[in-house]
Amino acid sequence: DWTMDAYKDDAIAKIRKQVGDGKVICGLSGGVDSSVTAVLIHEAIGDQLTCVFVDHGFMRTGEADQVVNLFRDHYNIPLVHVDAANTFIDAIEGEIDPEVKRKTIGRLFIEVFEQEAKKIGGADFLAQGTLYPDVIESVSFTGGPSVTIKSHHNVGGLPERMNMQLVEPLRELFKDEVRDLGRELGLPDSFVGRHPFPGPGLAIRIPGQPITHEKLDILRKADAIYLEEIRNAGLYDAIWQAFAVLLPVRTVGVMGDGRTYDYACALRAVTSTDGMTADYFAFPPEILGRIANRIINEVNGINRVTYDYTSKPPGTIEWE
Ligand code: XMP
Repeated sequence: DWTMDAYKDDAIAKIRKQVGDGKVICGLSGGVDSSVTAVLIHEAIGDQLTCVFVDHGFMRTGEADQVVNLFRDHYNIPLVHVDAANTFIDAIEGEIDPEVKRKTIGRLFIEVFEQEAKKIGGADFLAQGTLYPDVIESVSFTGGPSVTIKSHHNVGGLPERMNMQLVEPLRELFKDEVRDLGRELGLPDSFVGRHPFPGPGLAIRIPGQPITHEKLDILRKADAIYLEEIRNAGLYDAIWQAFAVLLPVRTVGVMGDGRTYDYACALRAVTSTDGMTADYFAFPPEILGRIANRIINEVNGINRVTYDYTSKPPGTIEWE
């Protein structure tokens, strides 16, 4: 549409003005926000841009490949793929506090970007797909006293010593506007229509317990089944965001003629327009039943599935 077309030209002009002939590093997560940021900046400054995809080990199944394929093969944008899973998982080992996890992950992201910047002979700018709601939600909760609900892992600027400035061309936009801009830039619908996925990834979906490789694997499997069934039911686009949460509780079950003592998982799905408020998604009961059945039968380690009927507020979308 024409407004986004104008916005795009304006954003490109601003990026050129800010960056000059400097070099930019852009963290790609595979989500809509960072993808749109990267493609926009690439249109503005071409190969002054290097994209870095950091696999922190908290990704969902197949995610890394999808990102690498889209950017390297489809767009021909230089992309460095950093496998830092062990570093990240070690760093939050035993940590339960959600804010500490976010901050640790945010700090490590910056360290990886710094290392990658060094490898290309230094970069002057770091680009991030920060949106308007990320900025305000990290500062205060609308209408309430000034209190931090969640410090989004990438909000709050860069450490002084870094000598890099932030480029955040989406900072004034809401999600639906970012999607319009993505379409304007020719991103495939499969990318533009993707559900949001938080930067800290699965690390904030294993609440109240130490994160282990084993738990990450269990959660990945449950999450993949959940999303596959949502797609099969034709409901993906009706939902803002859907995901599984691995609960820190084991429950007794019976399978065949044996006793099981495995984890419970919660399924979450919400509708929303900007993520700032949300309603729980009312699934047809038979679909939830089928999903629960498949998860319990197919995922070793889960023997009970619950559905989360909390809206935002008073809940938040993520459990942490
Ligand atoms: P909440 O849980 O605050 O989530 O209702 C609102 C939206 O933000 C996402 N989210 C995050 N995204 N870093 C991110 O990049 C974070 O630390 C973070 N925490 C929540 C969440 O998935 C939802 O789309």
